[in-house]
Amino acid sequence: MGKISILPAAIALLFFASTARSLVCDITKYGAGGGTSSDITQALVSAWKEACAATEASKVLVPAGTHVLREVVLEGPCKSSIEVQVDGTLQAPADPAQMKTDGWVVFRGVDLLTLSGSGTFDGQGKTAWTKNDCNLKTDCVTLPINIRFDSVTNGMVKDITSLDSKQFHVNVLNCKNLTFQHVTITAPGDSPNTDGIHIGRSTGINIIDTGIKTGDDCISIGDGSEQMTITGVTCGPGHGISVGSLGKYPNEQPVTGLHVKNCTITGTMNGLRIKTWPASPAGTASDMHFEDITLDNVGNPVIIDQQYCPWNQCKSKAPSHIKISNVSFSRIRGTSSTQAAVTLACSSQLPCTEVEISDIDIAYHGPEGPATSVCSNVKPTISGKQNPAICASAAASPTASPVSQ
Ligand SMILES: *[C@@H]1O[C@H](CO)[C@@H](O)[C@H](O)[C@H]1NC(C)=O
Ligand SMILES: *[C@@H]1O[C@H](CO)[C@@H](O)[C@H](O)[C@H]1NC(C)=O
Ligand SMILES: *[C@@H]1O[C@H](CO)[C@@H](O)[C@H](O)[C@H]1NC(C)=O
Repeated sequence: MGKISILPAAIALLFFASTARSLVCDITKYGAGGGTSSDITQALVSAWKEACAATEASKVLVPAGTHVLREVVLEGPCKSSIEVQVDGTLQAPADPAQMKTDGWVVFRGVDLLTLSGSGTFDGQGKTAWTKNDCNLKTDCVTLPINIRFDSVTNGMVKDITSLDSKQFHVNVLNCKNLTFQHVTITAPGDSPNTDGIHIGRSTGINIIDTGIKTGDDCISIGDGSEQMTITGVTCGPGHGISVGSLGKYPNEQPVTGLHVKNCTITGTMNGLRIKTWPASPAGTASDMHFEDITLDNVGNPVIIDQQYCPWNQCKSKAPSHIKISNVSFSRIRGTSSTQAAVTLACSSQLPCTEVEISDIDIAYHGPEGPATSVCSNVKPTISGKQNPAICASAAASPTASPVSQ
């Protein structure tokens, strides 16, 4: 008996001893000047190296104040769990010519990473936005993303702010089990290509209680994304919450398992959107569910757009070969800024299947009359309240197909 009861106690003791013994690497101890606006790049990299090599849980601390930071890659694998707590404001170089890569702060190959703190990642994007020419040409200049997570697993990002990124604010690539909670993302509504959080080729990504005001999609979900939960997100200004665009490139992976719930979307160009390019290679997007969404003055509140072609960049009007299935929109309520409130424009080659629409109540107060719902190549299952009557309007002709960016 004695032996059996002592063992758990010993394990518990070991556990508390190890969590209590965590290493704190304050960047001011690594040569970062205490003064305001000093360049902390080298100090941050040194602090990361020591923390990452520690065999106990460790923390890199960036204290309050304004600090200049050039591009950094904070790379694993680390020997134990690691937290980066940013309480200050980090400023990127304003001139994009001073930045050579596509990421300002990059976390790469790290397991058990926490990024926390009351601090701000200020991308100082104003100068760069004037140089963005992606609406004019496809081979446009690549500007740095504020924060990149490449191959990060079992991570948590909480409380921090991303401000005025030059391009996407946050990019998630090849990650597994990464949660964003209580994050703030801010950029002007007219800043180009400043998606809030972009997810691609990742599994188990959660975005919880997060506020996003930006110039492009609040959240965009690219190919190879699986098991995503988005709850308690406020979005706007911006272009809404989007799956896609899909089908622009060969060898894209399926998108599957998306749950968007209890979100509020305000004043955006689009609301809940699934977009695929025409003439695409084969692909699939399935098991995507949107529920309990409040809309305030939102353009194209519910839209499947399989003829997505911003700035007339596509070479062909041939149908998309992305198969969309198992999609539901439930309890979507509020006001639209465009007459077309529910648009389901599916591929003529591969119609959408298993689409369910229930309890839709979207009002439009424009001179053309009440809200409408336009559908093509889809026969949704409809239940509950229907304002507007779902798919009651004639199918959109190619020239009247939705124009959304
Ligand atoms: C996901 O990551 C969190 C945060 O590091 C961790 O607590 C949790 O156990 C992980 N979940 C799984 C299923 O591994
Ligand atoms: C819904 O989201 C809001 C944030 O927009 C949050 O405050 C609230 O607790 C959430 N409600 C539920 C039931 O999750
Ligand atoms: C459709 O989505 C639901 C809800 O996520 C899921 O339980 C179900 O397995 C999916 N059905 C198919 C055929 O994928």
